[in-house]
Amino acid sequence: MTKKEKKDVFNFYSSDDQEKKDSTKIVLITGGAGFIGSNFIRYLMKQYPEYKIINFDKLTYAGNLNNLTLIEEDPNYVFLKGDAANPEDVKNVFEQFSPNFVVHFAAESHVDRSILNPDIFLQTNVLGTQILLSYSREYNVERFIQISTDEVYGSMEKNISCNEYAKLAPNNPYAASKASADLLIRVAHQTYGQKVNIIRACNNYGPYQFPEKLIPVIIYNALNNKELPIFGDGTNIRNWMHVDDHCRAIDLVLHKGRSGEIYNVGADNEWENIKLVKHILKELKLPDDLIQFVIDRKGHDFRYSLDSSKIKQELGWKTTIDFKDGIKQVIDWYKSHLDWIEEIQSGEYMKYFERVYKERIVEQD
Ligand code: NAD
Ligand code: TYD
Repeated sequence: MTKKEKKDVFNFYSSDDQEKKDSTKIVLITGGAGFIGSNFIRYLMKQYPEYKIINFDKLTYAGNLNNLTLIEEDPNYVFLKGDAANPEDVKNVFEQFSPNFVVHFAAESHVDRSILNPDIFLQTNVLGTQILLSYSREYNVERFIQISTDEVYGSMEKNISCNEYAKLAPNNPYAASKASADLLIRVAHQTYGQKVNIIRACNNYGPYQFPEKLIPVIIYNALNNKELPIFGDGTNIRNWMHVDDHCRAIDLVLHKGRSGEIYNVGADNEWENIKLVKHILKELKLPDDLIQFVIDRKGHDFRYSLDSSKIKQELGWKTTIDFKDGIKQVIDWYKSHLDWIEEIQSGEYMKYFERVYKERIVEQD
């Protein structure tokens, strides 16, 4: 164990107060060292200070314990390094902690990587989910939340949104692996009666997002006078939601969602990629001339769009962060955390960045 992983796990159970022990929940967060998982851990610890949190993460290139420095010394938090796709690792965490809840974020999450190397996406996203489901059944987990994505529905024409009954039509290996995992969640409920939910969210933005996704790539490159790679003609559309609004939705589903149900979580905040990039540049008070159109992503979905009326009507969820305010805050966060990105840039990410983008650069007229 490294310094950051080391924790006296037995202190975890040290309370002699039985009432306190009964009211608390042990929550297993998988992938808690990534972007959304680390934001959710901070959110959950603030909302439920009595909960015990176990962060189970393989620490792939995208897992970064620096995302959690604010809470790493909290006695209600413990980190365990492990692979969701390795039954021994998963058994170990269930044996030690017997969690009440599982919130499953761990995944290979980047579409461009999935096009280059799909195998690891099946390993982690499909097999990893099944292994976690099996142990959750064995240990009588009270609720298993699968963090899924709008990408499982595939691309949508303009003016069309899909509800939870729309057909699954993934178009890239990442989306296919997430759709497959969603089907295994369904099976866990239908066959074994496990208490599960699936949350399908639109694109998230916020602090600690790994600098391979559009928004952090653009902010970081713009601040460093580097080219801003826009795939294709930049007219593809994404719907952007602040990660804190996603965290609130997960909290509601975990505590109040009807078991077996899928909940779409979208923000009604559509942007063409090129317009979003220009908006960020305007906020940064920088000109557009760093924009560079590059060869399009293979199978690039034109648009995702969720109908989220179910979670709004059933659980009273709505977005609370206006995008123009949220993006301002997030730009400021990245500006004041350039060292966070630079640490990442000095590692594996740079090799990946060069491999993907060097081949893609299109000569400008
Ligand atoms: P991320 O890539 O930032 O983090 C993924 C985390 O999972 C990392 O900490 C990584 O180390 C860990 N991990 C990877 N493989 C693992 C394994 N085999 N065992 C244990 N841990 C492993 O991803 P993110 O953007 O935070 O996304 C989290 C979840 O939310 C994913 O399931 C993703 O599909 C889903 N999602 C993301 C978005 C988005 O906009 N980022 C939108 C909708 C849904
Ligand atoms: P991304 O952040 O990778 O999320 P997703 O593919 O899961 O939606 O990409 C968001 C959009 O931005 C998508 O249409 C692809 C595009 N994009 C670029 O144009 N340039 C980039 O460098 C990246 C990473 C994405």
